Amino acid sequence: MIRLIDYARPFAALIDPEEAHRLAVSALKVLPTLAIGHDDPILGLSVFGLDFPNPVGLAAGFDKNAEVADRILRLGFGFAEVGTLTPLPQAGNPRPRLFRLPAAEGVVNRLGFNNEGFAAAAARLAERGHRRGVVGVNIGANRDSRDRAADYVAGIETFAPLASYFVVNISSPNTPGLRDLQAAPALDDLLARVIEARDRAVETAGRKALLLKISPDLSLAELDDLIAVVRKRGADGLIVSNTTVTRPALLRDTAAREEGGLSGRPLFSLSTWMLAETFRRVGREIPLVGVGGVDSAEAAWTKILAGASLVQLYTGMIFHGFGLVNRIKLGLDERLRRSGYISIADAIGAEARAIAAEPWPT
Ligand SMILES: Cc1cc2nc3c(=O)[nH]c(=O)nc-3n(C[C@H](O)[C@H](O)[C@H](O)COP(=O)(O)O)c2cc1C
Repeated sequence: MIRLIDYARPFAALIDPEEAHRLAVSALKVLPTLAIGHDDPILGLSVFGLDFPNPVGLAAGFDKNAEVADRILRLGFGFAEVGTLTPLPQAGNPRPRLFRLPAAEGVVNRLGFNNEGFAAAAARLAERGHRRGVVGVNIGANRDSRDRAADYVAGIETFAPLASYFVVNISSPNTPGLRDLQAAPALDDLLARVIEARDRAVETAGRKALLLKISPDLSLAELDDLIAVVRKRGADGLIVSNTTVTRPALLRDTAAREEGGLSGRPLFSLSTWMLAETFRRVGREIPLVGVGGVDSAEAAWTKILAGASLVQLYTGMIFHGFGLVNRIKLGLDERLRRSGYISIADAIGAEARAIAAEPWPT
């Protein structure tokens, strides 16, 4: 069945990208309920208090409304992240707002947090109950919110009993002003409030890890300031990175000129370099999730060597289909055995210094 969906991919490339996405979610909903396969134990690892059967997760943005989290796990992903969710439903930006870059295998999106809101997603997650598998909830703020930090706090309160972990997304380029929350004084206030909310929920919901998702467009000075706040307030992990508003030279696709965040292969170098720079600063003290342009086992392995404990992907699946995750796991298994490392945990950050020493990708 999974292969059948894989074959549908070339047809999906011909239709409007948002329609293709809607069809992909619908296809997953009707997948037969296969048991979650067992991964080779060599791929398993424990990060921020959670056990992952393998390190390859689905990045936020695919299952914005928590409709298919269990189906995603059944495709072989080690974890799923739903969202970004905002307190109130919102329509997002006018269409068209999602563009494929076929030559570069990238995507530009300016969706602007289109989603059904906390209540609809919470009801779906409550329905899945306490099924196995790691499902994180990625939280954002409504575009018109007067107190954005309060939106994130409300997210923690709503999803504390339902989420395996939280992501505070302050790096989407498509909600004006959102990324300003990454600046030290705003971040300090935000993290103080969300961590307090998380800690308040410990008694009823258990302690849930709280991760911050950052932009690859921060300067290194901004990264230093951000990490200082994260250390002070004690977030459990960083996701590096969201999409970029920059455009690497040599992009041939005309859609590259569209406004929005660029993802996929053309984001790989910048996001991996940022990951390595982050690892050089935090080491193993704060676990990192490496995202951006993962479309092969080689790319996933490089993220791990650059400092990622876990990786995520989204755009790679648009170009390579649902079968990509299993190909990546097989390739990771092989690389791990060839490398002489005993486990994924052993390889994390082994080449961070070398990757960070490469010139800033342009
Ligand atoms: C269509 C689309 C929608 C996205 N929506 C979100 C989102 O709602 N929240 C979020 O944190 N990231 C979102 N992202 C960013 C991805 O989670 C990821 O960080 C980024 O695309 C880089 O990974 P990739 O190159 O594997 O796609 C979105 C990406 C795409 C392509």
